This record gives sequence, C-alpha cells and structure tokens, in this order.
Amino acid sequence: MSIVFLNGNFLPEVEATISPLDRGFIFGDGVYEVIPVYGAKLFRINEHLQRLDNSLSAIKLNNPYGHKRWLELFKKLIEINGNGDQSLYLQITRGKAVRDHAIPNGATPTVFMMSSGLKSPTQDVIENGISAVTCDDFRWKKCQIKSISLIANVLLRQYAIDNGAAESILIREGEVTEGAASNIFVVVDGTLITPPKGPLLLPGITRDLILEIAQQNNIAYAEASLSMDQLNRASEVMLSSSTKEILPVTLLDQKPVGNGKPGPIFHKLYSLYQVYKDKLRKGELT
Ligand code: PDD
Repeated sequence: MSIVFLNGNFLPEVEATISPLDRGFIFGDGVYEVIPVYGAKLFRINEHLQRLDNSLSAIKLNNPYGHKRWLELFKKLIEINGNGDQSLYLQITRGKAVRDHAIPNGATPTVFMMSSGLKSPTQDVIENGISAVTCDDFRWKKCQIKSISLIANVLLRQYAIDNGAAESILIREGEVTEGAASNIFVVVDGTLITPPKGPLLLPGITRDLILEIAQQNNIAYAEASLSMDQLNRASEVMLSSSTKEILPVTLLDQKPVGNGKPGPIFHKLYSLYQVYKDKLRKGELT
C-alpha cells in the first residue's frame, strides 16, 4: 500500500483527505514539483527546491518548510515506499478558506506528497522515437510557475492523443515554446537549440541538465528563439522532462523528422544522461 504525506503525517493514501474548500480544489491555487529518484537518490534536488521557491514566491505563498526539512521529509517518504527508483510528487496549495478569489489572510497551506514507481522510457521508444503534433499554445503568460492549474496542459496533451500522437509541441505567435508537459530541443544545422527561459515556458530541471551535458561534451548548443520553420527543417527533435528523461520525436505532424530515426545527437545525449543517472545512483554526485 502506498504511503503519502499530508500536512505533517505519513499515512496510507486512502486515509489522506482534504477539505473540499481547499483552494487547490476550488481554484487550482497551488504549485507542485515532480522529482525523479534513482536508487533512493534525489535528482538535482537543489534545483527542484529552488524552482519550488520561485513558484511559491510568484503566487505569494510562503514555503511552509525550509530546504533541510523538505529533504528529511523526502527521504522518509522514499524510504517508507521501498527506496529504488521513484517519482516523487509534491503539491502545496493555499489551504482551506471561504470561497473568495482574493488571497485569504491566515490560511494554512495544504502540503501533500506521494511517490510512485518511476519507469524509464522503454527500449522501443529509445530506438524508434515518438510522434508529436504542433498546436496553438493557448496557455497564460506565467508558464514559468509550476502551477497546479493545468487544464490548458491537459487539453493540449489530449489534443495529441486524439490525433494519434504522444505529445503536443506548442506554438505561440509563430515561436515554439515547449511541449504540453515537456521542454523541447531541436537540431538545426548541427546545433542543438532550445527556447530560452522566460514566462512562456517552464524552466525544466531536465532541460538544464541536458544543456550542462552538451556544454561539458562539446556539443554545439544555443538557447534561442525557435521558429516553426526551424522546427520543420530540424534534423532531430527531442523532448525532456523528469519522467521522460530525453525522448526522440521521429514523427512530427505525420511527417518523419530527419530520416525518421532517432539521430546522433539524441543518442549521445541519451547515453550521457544514463551515465549521469548511474553516478547519482552510486552516490558519486554531490
Ligand atoms: N512536467 N514543461 C512543462 C509544461 C512541464 O509540465 C514539464 C514537466 C516540463 C519539464 O520539466 P522538468 O524537466 O523539470 O520535469 C516542461 C512534469 C513532469 C509533470 O507535470 O508531470
């Protein structure tokens, strides 16, 4: 039975209940993080905690715990749920209050965490890639906040599924932003390109690691705006996220990307990413 954390207590998921007046339920008023865990070791934990701080401050909510306390809670939840590889989910909402859009004074935030088994992408996906479709990015202009108000992302992901694809690649005023739940990388004229951070996309923790790996291994890269035209002539397209790691897109809007197979830059990044995970597992990263 999976054990979750709710407001200071570790308890079975079926016993974890919150008020229907919780502003997370009523308004989607809260933020979240998804943190991969490899061999019981937390992936890029300082970066995840920093992004959590940034999201909380952007929605004017104080962090209920300091980083040291978060770490203790994460480790305990991971241990209770059997260590190994896990996907740790945490969510903080503004808590229970009488329904009123204005931010209430003195509400106690609701803090929830759960963890489930983390499955790395299958061999089939690594060898053959996935398909994606482009669509209009109709989200708001604060996409850097890891907000739990995800209805736009839900509809965008569903658009992909309804069109026989695995992910939507979002286009805002002719520029590529990211995926419905992932960041995007393309290879154009031999250079790895990803759109720059800003209010139009989530600053992915996986994205930053991929750029770091590119830099350390002399892979030419740029954080630069990415047009629809560049996307269409890219020799490689990749998506990244905590749960997807790095994935090749081999079919875009029903047309093959490059030669229709994952390309050389993907293979290089993917294997270096696995090396990073192994080092984390062995405790070789600080
Ligand atoms: N989503 N962009 C969006 C819109 C996302 O939802 C995500 C991740 C990312 C990648 O961020 P990171 O590398 O830090 O996981 C980019 C998570 C996995 C989710 O909502 O489940």
